[in-house]
Amino acid sequence: MEIIHLSAECYPVAKVGGLGDVVGALPKYQNKLGHFAKVVMPAYAVPFLQQNEFEVVYDSWGRLGNDNFPVRIFREKTNKMGFDLFLVHIAGLTDREKVYGYADDTERFLAFQIAVLDWISQWEHRPDVIHCHDHHTGLVPFMMGNCHAYTRLKDIPSILTIHNAQYQGQFGWDKLFKIPAFDLRKSGLLEWDKDINPLAAAIKCAWKVTTVSESYLEELSQEANGLQSLLAAERWKSSGILNGIDTVVWDPNTDPMLNKNFQLKTAEKGKKANKEALCAVFNLNPDKPLFTFIGRLVAEKGADLLPDIFHNTLAHSQGNVNILVLGSGDPVVESRLSELKNWFPGSYNVYVGYNEQLSHQIYAGADFLLMPSRVEPCGLNQLYALRYGTIPVVRRIGGLKDTVTDIGDGGFGICHDQTSIADVGHAIGRAYELYQNKKQKKAIIHYSMQLDHSWDRAAQRYIDLYQM
Ligand code: ADP
Ligand code: GLC
Repeated sequence: MEIIHLSAECYPVAKVGGLGDVVGALPKYQNKLGHFAKVVMPAYAVPFLQQNEFEVVYDSWGRLGNDNFPVRIFREKTNKMGFDLFLVHIAGLTDREKVYGYADDTERFLAFQIAVLDWISQWEHRPDVIHCHDHHTGLVPFMMGNCHAYTRLKDIPSILTIHNAQYQGQFGWDKLFKIPAFDLRKSGLLEWDKDINPLAAAIKCAWKVTTVSESYLEELSQEANGLQSLLAAERWKSSGILNGIDTVVWDPNTDPMLNKNFQLKTAEKGKKANKEALCAVFNLNPDKPLFTFIGRLVAEKGADLLPDIFHNTLAHSQGNVNILVLGSGDPVVESRLSELKNWFPGSYNVYVGYNEQLSHQIYAGADFLLMPSRVEPCGLNQLYALRYGTIPVVRRIGGLKDTVTDIGDGGFGICHDQTSIADVGHAIGRAYELYQNKKQKKAIIHYSMQLDHSWDRAAQRYIDLYQM
């Protein structure tokens, strides 16, 4: 099958979170199964563009309301990603350093979607499926089905994968005429709660909807940032497919970003070496357990509670634990986490910002990874942690619930029910106890490093879904 993935992120070109990881891996695994999966994404002003060779495959103009915009689509020449990668360059709109966060994000992603459909509708053949990821590509199923310019694409199956329903991309009706012409009686398909809502439009118009875990699909019918009744109504065409991980990129035995590579047999020594290197850089004590948090510092991840949780833990443990944080996001949380450094030098540190290499080093060197998420559609951090022999301490929610089993139930992680200071504090206490039990800890690490979370199975599940 020829599968076109449309996404705002794709690792290693541009990644803000797990969406980038998924879109950088899933197509590779679909191609391993004998398919032709491709990725089409915006061309941002990122180093990947300078560091790789491209050819122009499309050079034209698009239209956003009354304005024309220039479009150039580049194909990465070597196919080294394991799939064909196409970057859509729209001068003045896509060519910025950051992926999101601009006042004109609506226009940027709308122009991207229009450019892609203009291009595909000129192909001599038609692809077998268009797979849209999150709201940035959410108007595509609507436009394929309804815009006069894209009648040729009407019968191509479209799939929406919801990675995160918190973000929906809403905008006002004043921008309606930026969408290419369609029968205005169909406007209702775009609407949710008085706005044009790209995620809602995709849930209504895509042939199939998936979420990145089964538990998240269930949770969305109860709470989906306003879309719960829509998701409940469209449940008939929805399914949950748990994400995998790219086991080539995330392999502790070959990962070039680590201080020391290790595998199952050498895990104890290897993790120790990585921990020592990390502790040396961050002024921590390698003889004490190392707890860590990696991620976006937003309420969804429970990050607002971290400063208090860490303060309590560090104050009570009297130098017996280390905590290291890697993340960025809410400026208040960033500064409260930074302040803690003054209180607990030698047992606490934080790196505010995004650092891919450091994230790999932490997965390899830490003892425990905390994920007290309020919402977690899938979560990849816990899967990387498991593969790198770091024990996840997670809230039972969404994908965390589907991937981590508590040690009390014969599992390999520590689970708690609520995103609260008390629950997380209690879970940290249990982790501390586990740390003292060297034999049990070793057995758990051995078990979890062997768990199979690769994309092989899930890649096939998507193929089956496309064909249904
Ligand atoms: P989300 O997509 O909601 O942020 P996921 O758990 O699916 O959560 O994926 C997060 C991804 O982003 C992981 O690959 C994680 O290692 C990475 N990541 C998050 N924050 C940072 C950071 N500050 N520096 C480096 N990598 C990060
Ligand atoms: C989203 C979710 C995260 C998920 C990722 C990849 O960003 O917040 O839980 O793992 O997408 O699907």
